[in-house]
Parts: sequence; structure tokens; C-alpha cells
Amino acid sequence: MSMVRTGVAVAAMMWAGLSQAQDVIKIGVIAPLTGPQAASGQQIVAGAKLYQALNGTKVGGKTIELVIKDDTGVADITRRLAQELIVNEKVAAITGFGLTPLALAVGPVITQAKVPAVIMVAGTSMIVGTSPYFVRISFTLPQNTAPVAQWAVENNVKTAVTLVSDYGPGLDAAGAFKKRLEAGGGKVTEELKAPLADPDFAPFLQRAKDLKPDALFLFVPAPTAGALMKQVVDRGLPQSGIKVVGTGDVTDDDQLNGMGDGVLGMITSYNYSASHDSAENRKFVAEFKKANANRRPNVIGVGGYDGIHAIYAAIAKNNGNTEGPKLIEAFKGLSWTSPRGPVSIDPETRDIVQNVYVRKVERKDGELYNMEFKTYENQKDPK
Ligand code: DHB
Repeated sequence: MSMVRTGVAVAAMMWAGLSQAQDVIKIGVIAPLTGPQAASGQQIVAGAKLYQALNGTKVGGKTIELVIKDDTGVADITRRLAQELIVNEKVAAITGFGLTPLALAVGPVITQAKVPAVIMVAGTSMIVGTSPYFVRISFTLPQNTAPVAQWAVENNVKTAVTLVSDYGPGLDAAGAFKKRLEAGGGKVTEELKAPLADPDFAPFLQRAKDLKPDALFLFVPAPTAGALMKQVVDRGLPQSGIKVVGTGDVTDDDQLNGMGDGVLGMITSYNYSASHDSAENRKFVAEFKKANANRRPNVIGVGGYDGIHAIYAAIAKNNGNTEGPKLIEAFKGLSWTSPRGPVSIDPETRDIVQNVYVRKVERKDGELYNMEFKTYENQKDPK
């Protein structure tokens, strides 16, 4: 082959590679697939993959490719992976973030690179305000806590003890519960905080039991719920005359069946229940179980699913243009029907607006479910 023809062939190959690259939009998914938060990472990835399985990979004539990375739940790794995905893989957006510190770690990276980051889990109120490139489709703890605090006010709770994981979302949850209960005339008599890593809940639960409040309010990140609730049930707290309440993180759908009948009747408030009564949710739960060896989706699974939906919708709205400053604009004001109910992205704050439901643990068809019985519509983060 002559030099000229070789040159033409190489140029043609390069052109094919380039146009193929231009037809692919990469999205980085950073999730804790190993370590103590592995259940969270597994739900994120299962939800994200299910969205693609049901809706295809084509948006605006381009192919969406997920590049999935395990940060093991360590913030330094999350930050490094975000940098690598942006610089080497040229991703249009990153998503995931199974814990508040993991989301916070990427704030400076996305601000500098002007690449949107869609939060699928982390729930501390202030996160989204730390970078103009954050969007949240999960929830905030004050948003999810206020309705159960209101339930306590309406159900004669005069005194309460709070027990939360000692980091951002726990402090937000305890603060929101106290604010709402005390506005309704009640009093939080003690605020207990357990370490996030390897917590032993026994001494805190004993202290709460000894204080004999009308209610005990609980928050831990969803993957820790099984360990907490085993201790709660073993110590007989629900039978001790103390109303045990919490955000729905503590009656996590992924682990609820393993908690046993001791949690029957427990009241929580949350943005998602696997038993949510809608056509969208029935389909979502059935398909999720089919694709994941009958595992039940939880709030994080629906976060993974909706996070990819939001990214598809923003890219479609921009006709395939993924320049960061334009892409972040496209998320603002999006609205859709999620398996959790109607949701939208507040154009001012880039935070999720959604229904929050008050629920009670009941047995249905031989399984435990959080049965929704009251809806607070279109809730923003109360701030
Ligand atoms: C956070 C993590 C969770 O798994 C959860 O259920 C709620 C909040 C967080 O770290 O923000």
C-alpha cells in the first residue's frame, strides 16, 4: 500500500473513532459497592441499570454509556474518581454519592471543571449549596423528618429523645424533629448521637429507655438500619411504652423483612415506599425484582433510577448538547412522575421537590411493608 493510501486509511479510521466518540455520552457513576455502605452502592447501580434496560441507551441520537466506579465509601477515593472520570473519560456528568461526605468531596472538583453532579443518595440539606453544579434527586433530611415530627405532635407526644448517626444528615434530622416538635408544644429532652462507623447502639438505647420519653426518634443511613433495628427490637423498645419513630431510612425497604414483627406498627415519614400505590411504582418494583434476584428496591434504588432519568431528560432538553454550563441549566425545572410520585427540580435551589408520606409498618401478603397513610404534597427542603 502506498504512503498516500495508508495515510487515507489511517485518517478514515481516526475519523470513524472520533465520530463514534462524539456519538457516545459518558456518565460517571460513583457508588460505594464495597465496604459498610455496599448495600447503598448496589441499589444505586441496580436502579441506574434498570433505567437503561427499560428506556434504552439512546438520547437525542447519542448513546449514553455509564462508567461505574466503586469508591468503597471513602471520600478521598470519591474525589480522585471524579477527577479521573472528568479528565480521562471526559464524562458529561457524574452521579451516585452514597453518603454526605462522599458528595461534599466532589464539590470543588465539579465547580472547577463545570461538570454537573447528580446526587442519588446524600441528604444533608447544605450539600447542594456548596457548588452551582450540584443537582439533587434524592431527598433532604429536614424534608423527610418534618411530617413524622408533625405526626408526633398530633399523637400526644410531649417528650422525645432523638438518636441519630453523628454526621450531617443525622444532625439535620435531629434538628428538624426538635424544631417541629417544640413548635407544637413538645420537648426534646435529650439528643443522642452514635458514631457513623461501627456503631454500638446498645448504650444509647439503654439511656433512651431509662429516660422514658413519650417517643424516641431515630435516623441512621439506610444500610445501617438493620443493625440499629435489631438492637431496638431486642431491647424491647417498641413494647416499652415509648413510641419509636423515625425517617424511613430506619425501616429501609431493602432490610425491612429481616427486622421481624418487632417493627410492626412503627411510624416513619419518607419520600419513597416499595408499597407506594401507583402504576409507575408497581412496574418499577416488579422489574427491579426481576433483574435483581427478587431483591426489593429501596429509596436508593429509586434514586439510581431517577438520577439517570434526570440526566437523560436534561440531555434531551438540550438536544444532545452536554457542555457543563448548559447541561446544569437543563436540570432546573425538570418534572416527571417517579415511582415515588410526582417530583420536580426546584430551579432556584437545584434540590428535589416531592411528596413526603407518613407510613406505618404492616404485614401484607406475608411481607413487611411501609404502608403510606398520609401525604404532604410537593415538599421542598424546609431549610
Ligand atoms: C445519607 C445516606 C443514607 O444512606 C441515607 O439513608 C440517608 C442519608 C447521607 O449520608 O446523606
